[in-house]
Amino acid sequence: MVRFKNIVILTGAGISAESGVKTFRDNDGLWENHHIEDVATPEAFARDPHLVHNFYNERRAQLRAVKPNPAHKALAKLQQELPGTVSIITQNVDDLHERGGGEDIIHIHGELTQIRCKACAAIHTWQGDCTQSTTCPKCDREAVLRPNIVWFGEMPFFMDTIIDRLASCDLFISVGTSGNVYPAAGFVANVQEMGRAHTIEVNLEPSEGSSQFAELRQGKAGELLPVLVDELLAS
Ligand code: OAD
Repeated sequence: MVRFKNIVILTGAGISAESGVKTFRDNDGLWENHHIEDVATPEAFARDPHLVHNFYNERRAQLRAVKPNPAHKALAKLQQELPGTVSIITQNVDDLHERGGGEDIIHIHGELTQIRCKACAAIHTWQGDCTQSTTCPKCDREAVLRPNIVWFGEMPFFMDTIIDRLASCDLFISVGTSGNVYPAAGFVANVQEMGRAHTIEVNLEPSEGSSQFAELRQGKAGELLPVLVDELLAS
């Protein structure tokens, strides 16, 4: 394998599947028994904030019952040991990359462990429940807090940083994502337009964008990533 110095890794729900977190599209179109549009749109929150808060409160509580798996740990090892830069961009809102030792994780779709105030824009680290009667710790107002999650129809976070990283990488790896949701689904095409990076997909099954990758490694992330990371570190 060529020696790569500037690696960008995009992860999706599949990397957390072996930790016991449900993916979005592997469950008959339901996400934890809900239709995505009932819990992951600004309209849903406006219509029924109680339901949406409860849903994310449950997801936040679920984090305490799950643990990082060998895939998260392998990527953290790559970050720590590669003589170069390894950027991890995740579509996941869980904190398993961080708890597996990953650093500076770019959460393009936000984080379950953060709450944002719609009134004063403060972002608070949050471990417990949040309801409409919880007050903002900064501005003290009620009914202004929302999950710091990017819902459908909203702008993803950190796009300027992401475009910079994609433009300068020499290896782009996509792990455990079905390639259905843009802009993340378009990153492989962005990489190819902007540079000459090698591209690898690691997924249980070929994704929507599979044919755009130079290399496909098909199987479980928890089994394939430790092997891939060892290959990269040995080169
Ligand atoms: P999906 O549920 O759409 O896709 C998960 C992918 O992971 C599928 O292609 C599976 O085949 C694959 N997979 C499952 N188990 C795996 C394993 N053990 N190892 C490797 N691959 C595995 O999830 P995402 O692509 O992440 O957005 O979904 C993208 C976005 O859609 C999410 O971030 C979320 C959702 O709506 C927002 O919430 C804004």
